[in-house]
Amino acid sequence: VETKLWGGRFEESVTPSVEKFSESVSFDKKLYKHDIQGSRAHASMLAEQGLITMEDKGKIIGGLDEIERRIESGEFAWRADREDVHMNIEAALIDLVGEPAKKLHTARSRNDQVVTDVRLWCREAIDRLLGKIVGLQAALVRLAVRYEDLIIPGYTHLQRAQPLLLPHLLLAYVEQLDRDAGRLSDCQARMNYCPLGSCALAGTGLPIDRFATARALGFTAPLRNSVDAVSDRDFLLEFLSANSIAAVHLSRLAEEWVLWASEEFGFLIPSDAVSTGSSIMPQKKNPDPMELVRGKSARVIGSLTTLLVLCKGLPQAYNRDLQEDKEPLFDSVDTVNAMLEVSTEFALNISFNMERIAKSLPAGHLDATTMADYCVYKGIPFRTSHDIVGKSVALALSKRCQLAELSLSELRSINPIFDEDVANYLGAENAIERFQSYGSTGKRLSCTKKYGFIK
Ligand code: ARG
Repeated sequence: VETKLWGGRFEESVTPSVEKFSESVSFDKKLYKHDIQGSRAHASMLAEQGLITMEDKGKIIGGLDEIERRIESGEFAWRADREDVHMNIEAALIDLVGEPAKKLHTARSRNDQVVTDVRLWCREAIDRLLGKIVGLQAALVRLAVRYEDLIIPGYTHLQRAQPLLLPHLLLAYVEQLDRDAGRLSDCQARMNYCPLGSCALAGTGLPIDRFATARALGFTAPLRNSVDAVSDRDFLLEFLSANSIAAVHLSRLAEEWVLWASEEFGFLIPSDAVSTGSSIMPQKKNPDPMELVRGKSARVIGSLTTLLVLCKGLPQAYNRDLQEDKEPLFDSVDTVNAMLEVSTEFALNISFNMERIAKSLPAGHLDATTMADYCVYKGIPFRTSHDIVGKSVALALSKRCQLAELSLSELRSINPIFDEDVANYLGAENAIERFQSYGSTGKRLSCTKKYGFIK
């Protein structure tokens, strides 16, 4: 058995079950690139500060380059007995270049090292997520442009409410995704501070330059307090919260589209490319990808919950519990990435059943509110208008007809203010034109103009 890098004071080696239980390399090897990036910056700083020679620095960096190459070509042998990604790389570096490599861990602890790696990893992960969000927004905007004039029934409580333009509904998701992106960017900016040089918890007596490593790694500045730097994972809580909110938005989109693909709605037709069948019912064509988007939001929320519970009982500074931050982080990021990708693909592979939607529009008196607005124009207080239209709806219901099909004399029997011009407010096509205030559905596509990526 190899002596551990920390083995000086130990006489016995750990039991196999403890070794297996505590290793993290099986999942944290994902951080190798950022670990090497951090080590390069650290070694350069040590040399600049005269803590190691330029020659040692050259050997360390040459060795790190070779290790990176081996990892990427699959030649690198990851070892569970070396615990984690950090000690795998450090031990391999010592195997490779000998003595100079033993100087790399000067003024460094795995406690500042790991959280530096994770911050670097998250920074890139957020860039990837932001790109995927724009991709989905673009797909939704494309749908909006394709169905520019399509009027759909709008729902509240899943009951028919008012007419909407389909683009208006789609662009609601685009707005929500915009805020998701904003939350991710905010959290990216707030996490972009460097823990390196905080060492185990108290900092160091050696004359290091934390500003130099922070700068070299593209951080805004070093974190101000060494205990805080190694201790907190609030940046992960924030990241996973932002991911969870985005996942909830995607889940709602999924729910809506799954519902719309049902026989009962029949508004949305997914292409075969994004549907799957049943192993027993030959006629089935299911919108599984969006059901899974809805389903996978559960594990994104679960990862956030795991991290919250993980952190809540920890005293300051590093505790080994924190090793458990990585799997929920990676899973949250992988899952939201996949959810965004699949939602985008789904959006690019659906059509809306315009005929079916048009046929369904007369149901549900979508024009009742605009009829009330008409009464307001005639000088009637809104509450009274509401009552007048309520009575008109009751009459239409009893006659099984549309509001637009009530005769003028029938309407006047409810209230004499009605004139011929009420017709301009009735029927979904007329009603939709009435929604003209800022942010309303009636302004055709006006809000798409703000999205530069529309073609
Ligand atoms: N693998 C550990 C983690 O992910 C690295 C830090 C370990 N530090 C320590 N003192 N054992 O948190």
